[in-house]
Amino acid sequence: MTILAVDGVTVRFGGLVAVDGASFGVEEGAILGLIGPNGAGKTTLFNTINGVYRPRAGRITFKGEDITGLRPFQVARRGVARAHQVVRPLNDLSCLANVTVGACFGRENLSLRAATTVAEEMLSSLGLAQKAELPAGKLNVAEKKRLELARALAAKPLLLLADEVLAGLNPQEVAEMLGTFRRIKERGVTVIMIEHLMHAVMNVSDRVVVLDYGKKIAEGTPAEVQNDPKVIEAYLGDPKVAARFLEEGASDSPRPQPPRSPSRASSPATARCRSSGARALRSRPGSSRRCSARTAPGRRRSCARSWGCSPRGRGPCASTTATSPGSPRTRRRTSAWCSSPRAGSSSRP
Ligand SMILES: Nc1ncnc2c1ncn2[C@@H]1O[C@H](COP(=O)(O)OP(=O)(O)OP(=O)(O)O)[C@@H](O)[C@H]1O
Ligand SMILES: [Mg+2]
Repeated sequence: MTILAVDGVTVRFGGLVAVDGASFGVEEGAILGLIGPNGAGKTTLFNTINGVYRPRAGRITFKGEDITGLRPFQVARRGVARAHQVVRPLNDLSCLANVTVGACFGRENLSLRAATTVAEEMLSSLGLAQKAELPAGKLNVAEKKRLELARALAAKPLLLLADEVLAGLNPQEVAEMLGTFRRIKERGVTVIMIEHLMHAVMNVSDRVVVLDYGKKIAEGTPAEVQNDPKVIEAYLGDPKVAARFLEEGASDSPRPQPPRSPSRASSPATARCRSSGARALRSRPGSSRRCSARTAPGRRRSCARSWGCSPRGRGPCASTTATSPGSPRTRRRTSAWCSSPRAGSSSRP
């Protein structure tokens, strides 16, 4: 049975079409991987499913009910929980209190006492029982990610929207988190997982949907999607490089190098994480390198791609380049190399 149906959803920010007529369905109890290059519209689609944005066109149906345009708290009450791309726990509150909040405002409308019990169970199932009384601000990145997941799961969701939960984790933490996702699925929770770590998303997903420029460009099993030239081209950007990549995949000969020419790297059509795409689709566990862009004063945000974020190898993120959104061209430039929060964005990604 289809638990969530996204039907022709379009979201605009002024002249920019962030999601462009996207349609797909998610089967109950499945894990759906939602992938696409930076700025493809993945987070915006989550924001639309859970009611942060009202779509300009289209319909979202959850368990047979039209939830288009409902407010986030109304969507949460119906059983849709969200783990955000940028985790922002209530730093001064204990981990237990953070997760209790999720249980209080979730599907079951629990009393504080019952919510606390659920929160304790969630903390312990995510290996955070020892940290229950610690202020959330004291946790490290991996623990904050688990806390975010615990808070979402404490809402007892039927559908979990997990946005880049694996970003910033080391290979061992990624493996542990994938185990967690499998357990979540065993409990019957449906998951939509946005992820850039291809080996991870291909490993746990039953099906994969690929967005590019807000449009769905592919959908299928992980194997189908990995071999789809449109998907490879969306990541690599150049049909010739994509063809070489495909040949290499078939022969397993030495890997083609990502584009290096400065002129190509600086053109709008190629200004994105192509090297990451190439390596990501190679699905090599343990090959992750990070690009830590400075995104806000005093704050670093890691962009955990499967490879570096610059066509010239390790280098600073182009996302720090100040350009205003408004056209597809500037969209490419602002959101290219890593998924940093946008300047002027009012909502939480
Ligand atoms: N509130 C907003 N105002 C203006 N533009 C926005 C807003 N939110 C998103 N965008 C733009 O919409 C496009 C899609 O952004 P979105 O965050 O959904 O991409 P994404 O696929 O999640 O990317 P990433 O993988 O980098 O997280 C981008 O060009 C982004 O700059
Ligand atoms: Mg995003």
